[in-house]
Amino acid sequence: MSEIRPLIAGNWKMNGGRREGLKQAGQMARQAARRKGAAAEILICPPAILVPVLRDALAAGAIAIGAQDCHAAAAGAHTGEQSAEMLADAGCSHVIVGHSERRADQGESDAAVRAKAEAAHRAGLTAIVCVGETRAERRRGQALDVVARQLSRSVPKGAAAANTVVAYEPVWAIGTGLVPTVDDVAEMHAMMRARLARRFRAEGRGMRLLYGGSVNAGNAAALLGVAHVNGALVGGASLTAKAFMPIVKAAG
Ligand code: PGA
Repeated sequence: MSEIRPLIAGNWKMNGGRREGLKQAGQMARQAARRKGAAAEILICPPAILVPVLRDALAAGAIAIGAQDCHAAAAGAHTGEQSAEMLADAGCSHVIVGHSERRADQGESDAAVRAKAEAAHRAGLTAIVCVGETRAERRRGQALDVVARQLSRSVPKGAAAANTVVAYEPVWAIGTGLVPTVDDVAEMHAMMRARLARRFRAEGRGMRLLYGGSVNAGNAAALLGVAHVNGALVGGASLTAKAFMPIVKAAG
C-alpha cells in the first residue's frame, strides 16, 4: 500500500495543560515546518478543551488537530458531551472513536462506536476507529476473530478512504511497553485489509490502517515497515516533541 500516505497521530489522552501543551505544540509545529517534502501527515488529538488553544500553533506546522471522542447526536440534552459538529467548528479534522480506554471505562459497545463514527462523517470529520483484543483474548487464540468482529460492527456503512482510518491497538500493548511481534501485526493488518477491501472495495483498499500501542522512537521504523501498516496512533510518546517527532521521521 505504498501509495497510501502515512498518518502519525498523537493521542494525548487526559494529559497536557494549557502552558505545557502550547510549548510542545509549538516545538512540534516548528520541527514539522522544517520537513520539506515529507511523506507523513501529522495529527495531534489533545483533550477537547485544548483544541481552540492549540489549533493555531499546530497549524503553523501543517499539523492537523483532532479530538479523542464525540457524542453520536448533533446537539441536545447531553450534559458534559461534545458533538462532532462542535469539534469540526472548533477546528478539528479528525476524531478518535472507540478507543479501548473508552470501551472499558465508559462501556462503549461496537454499536455505540459505529454511531459515533457516523456522527463524525455527518460532521465532515475523519473517524479514527479503534479496535484491538485484550491479553486474555490473544492468549486464547481469539485475537483475529475479536478484531474482525469489532471491525465489522464498529466501521459504519459509508466509510471511505477519505473519512475513515482504522487503528489496531491491542489493549495489552497500550501504555505497557509491550508490542506484538511484527508477524502478529502483519497477520492482523492483512486480515483487516482483506475484510475492508471485501466490504468497501477500492475505498477499503485505500483506507489507512494504523498500529497503536507502545509505539516509540526505537520501534517505530520496524512497525511502520509492516505491510498494510499506514501509520501509527501514539499515546505516551506523543506528549513531547522530543519523543514524537522521531516517530514522524520514521514514517518518512
Ligand atoms: P501508548 O498509547 O502509545 O501510550 O501505548 C497508545 C494509545 O492508546 O493510543
